[in-house]
This record gives sequence, structure tokens and C-alpha cells, in this order.
Amino acid sequence: MKYFIKTFGCQMNVHESEKLAGMLFSLGYSQTDDMNNANVIVFNTCCIRDGVEQKIFGNIGSLKKLKSKNKNLIIAICGCMSQAEGRVDVIKKRFPFVDIIFGTHNIHMFKDYLLSKINCNSNTYDVWEKEKGIFEDVEIKRDNMFSNAWVNINYGCNNFCTYCIVPYVRGRERSRKMEDIENEVKSLISAGYKYITLLGQNVNSYGNDIDDKNVNFANLLQKLSSLDGDFRLKFMTSHPKDLTEDVIKVIANNDKIAKVIHLPIQSGSNSILNAMNRRYTREHYLNLITLIRKYMPYAYISTDIIVGFPGETDDDFMDTYNLINEVKYDGVFAFMFSRRSGTIADKLPDQISEDIKKERIHKLLALSKSITKEKNREIVGQIFNVIAVKDTDDGFEVMTDSGKTMFVKEHLDINKFYNAKVVKMTNNKLFAEIVC
Ligand code: SAH
Ligand code: SF4
Ligand code: F3S
Repeated sequence: MKYFIKTFGCQMNVHESEKLAGMLFSLGYSQTDDMNNANVIVFNTCCIRDGVEQKIFGNIGSLKKLKSKNKNLIIAICGCMSQAEGRVDVIKKRFPFVDIIFGTHNIHMFKDYLLSKINCNSNTYDVWEKEKGIFEDVEIKRDNMFSNAWVNINYGCNNFCTYCIVPYVRGRERSRKMEDIENEVKSLISAGYKYITLLGQNVNSYGNDIDDKNVNFANLLQKLSSLDGDFRLKFMTSHPKDLTEDVIKVIANNDKIAKVIHLPIQSGSNSILNAMNRRYTREHYLNLITLIRKYMPYAYISTDIIVGFPGETDDDFMDTYNLINEVKYDGVFAFMFSRRSGTIADKLPDQISEDIKKERIHKLLALSKSITKEKNREIVGQIFNVIAVKDTDDGFEVMTDSGKTMFVKEHLDINKFYNAKVVKMTNNKLFAEIVC
């Protein structure tokens, strides 16, 4: 018996698909990469932008053929899109061949839904309106054996940025207990995982819902990075309104924490930031960047940008453009504003045309490309923490904490950490040598 899972959306979903896989595995299923061979097909969905949803609808539609060829095929749809208001009815109506639909709050029930389909041929369409705490003890079948393991630290979001659907489909913020996180991380280290990535919509508000002031993100990082073993900690996503100097110092002072910070700004214009309900200013944000660079001159910093938020003028857009040029990010993820029903921004006047959004995003992407080129030229001479990946014709391949690939002459032990100094760049390939 085989399963096929397709994941849309962010790392949160990628990790939840590992939980779905864990449940399937415990029932005796094994994984296949070919949908045609699967007995169970699961789509773990996203609804962050309309384009993603339309693509998913198209993908579900194409399952009809498979189902008509194999009546016993079980099709399950779950994740943020199924959780979003009204989508269950849409899926049931447009795709009556779907057997199981559930949302983000009851993912741990998947096994029960599957068994009732197998044993009683009964379909389940069950989307809980509200979250009900945190469910520990879900089996996990991790992908990416040993190089990276995802660990949830908090679920949900309380921020209600006016463009965003996540708070509506993921519920209110809930933090896991520190000891549950610590135990999970310890077992991952002893299983041999090298990167451990802590996940939350806003990792910086970890612990805000727990009545103990020692339970906070700085202390969690400190505690986890003092565990024994050869590993690196990563985390995402940081929110500029909650990232503190304390946290920046903990990251800077611990070798086991990767110097990789994803800090979404969304817009460089104060009036747009205000309309987005981001609750920080451009100045506050730039101050954080200065602090990060003060403590960690070579930190890898990336960001998310939304262009074409309602009311965004040319001047607002240029504020964003100039900020990107000033910060010189290592990575920029830019998106065109997408109206999400139920959010405040969907109802705002002065919606921006698709043509203007496209023009602005192209301009930003061209800028970010030229910055990347410029930064690559500066990279020669810099020293990075790297992990040994594999032997290749170009030399031994190593990867930096941020995922950049380099090649060294030395023969290395796979999955061990080293420090590597970049010595040259040819044809866009980076060559380095191991230093102590
Ligand atoms: N919790 C994280 C990530 C949220 S979703 C954070 O706060 O940064 C990832 C990104 O999708 C966001 O950072 C934002 O840039 C983008 N996004 C969210 N809603 C969007 C919308 N309605 N239209 C376009 N982009 C959106
Ligand atoms: Fe969405 Fe804002 Fe929450 Fe991020 S912090 S998930 S952008 S509401
Ligand atoms: Fe992630 Fe998409 Fe849900 S970005 S939280 S999978 S809406």
C-alpha cells in the first residue's frame, strides 16, 4: 500500500506533511513519488495568495481521471485552504470524488478519518471552527534524513496583518512547553540531525501565552544551543516588532545558532506599514538591521515584500525600493498583493491594478538580482560555517548555513561541520578552502 503527499505553502505545511506521512507509515503504508501508483493521495494545501489556491484547484481537478481508473483510490485534502471559510463546500461541489477533507486544527485525526474510509467506506468532511490546544505525540516521518529537522515552537498567529489570511486559518497563538521542545530537539540531535529549524509564524512571540516570564524566545534559544552535540539551530519567521536586542545577542554569542535571519519588512513606507498593521516603522526596522550587523557582520539576512498593497503610491513603492537598496539583503522574496476574503485589506479602497503590481515586482526583482551579483563579488575572503555534502567532479561540495553551495579541494567527512574560506568564484561557482 502506497501514499503520495503533495505539499503547497510554507515550511509549516512541509512539516505537517511529515506528520501525515508518519500516520500513514504507522498504518503500514510506504511512500511513492508516482501518483499513479498511490492508494492514498493527500494534498496539503495553502491559501496565502489567490494564485496558489487556483493552482491547487487545478491540481485537485486533475485527480478525477485517476479516481475513475481506480475506484479504491482514497483522496484527502487538508491544510490551510480547506480550513479557509467556505472552501469545504467548494471542494465538495466541484470535486465530489474527494473522500476526506479536514483543516489545520484536526490534522492529528487523519488516521481515524482514513480508517473509517477503509473499514466502513465512509467519507469525512471535518473542519473544526476553532483550534483546540496542542496535540503532542503525533508520529512524524521526517524527510530530508539527517540534514534538517523541523520543530514547531508555536502555532497560530495573533498579529492580524491586514492582508493576511493566516490568523484565520491557523487560529490564535499557542506555544509548546519548553520541555516538550527540548526533549524533541534532544532526540533529534541523538538521531544525528545536523540542522534543527524552529518553526512559528512569529518565533519572537514564543511564550507570550505562557504565564512564566522565563519562557521566551531568547531563553529557548539559549537553552537549546547549550545542548551537547554537533548541530546548528535555525528558526523562522522573526517579526520586526518583537525581535529584541537580547535575542540578537543570543544568536551572536552561540556558535550553534546559524547566523541566518529572515526578517520580513513587507513595505518600506511608514504609511503602508501602518495600513498593513505591522506595528513597526521603517526606522525601527533599519535600527534592527544595524544591530544585527553590529553583532554579526556576516549574518545572512533575507526578507519578504508585498507590492501593490491598496493605496500604495509610486512614492511608497520607491521607499521600499530604496530600503532594499540600502539594506542589501542576501535574499528577497517579493509577492504581488493578493486579495483574501475576510481580511481588512480586501475591503480597502484604492486597490492597485495588476499591471502596476507586475511593473513594481519586476523592478524589485531586477534590483535584488543586481544586489546578489554585487554581494557575490564581495564574498571572496569571507569565512562560513559549512556542512560537508558530497564528493563531486568540482571538488567536495559543502553548504553554508543559508544553503549556499561551495566546493573545496579537501576530502571531508559527510555531514560534519567545517569552516571554509571562499577563495574564488568562477562561472558562478564558489571555491573555498577549509580553515580551522
Ligand atoms: N508569518 C510569517 C509569514 C507569513 S506568509 C511572517 O509574518 O512573515 C509569508 C509571506 O507571504 C508574508 O511574509 C507576505 O510577504 C506574503 N503574504 C501574506 N499574505 C499575502 C497576500 N495577501 N498577498 C501577497 N502576499 C502575501
Ligand atoms: Fe500573517 Fe502577519 Fe501573522 Fe505573519 S505575522 S502570519 S504576515 S498575520
Ligand atoms: Fe503556510 Fe500557506 Fe498556511 S503560507 S500557514 S501553508 S496559508
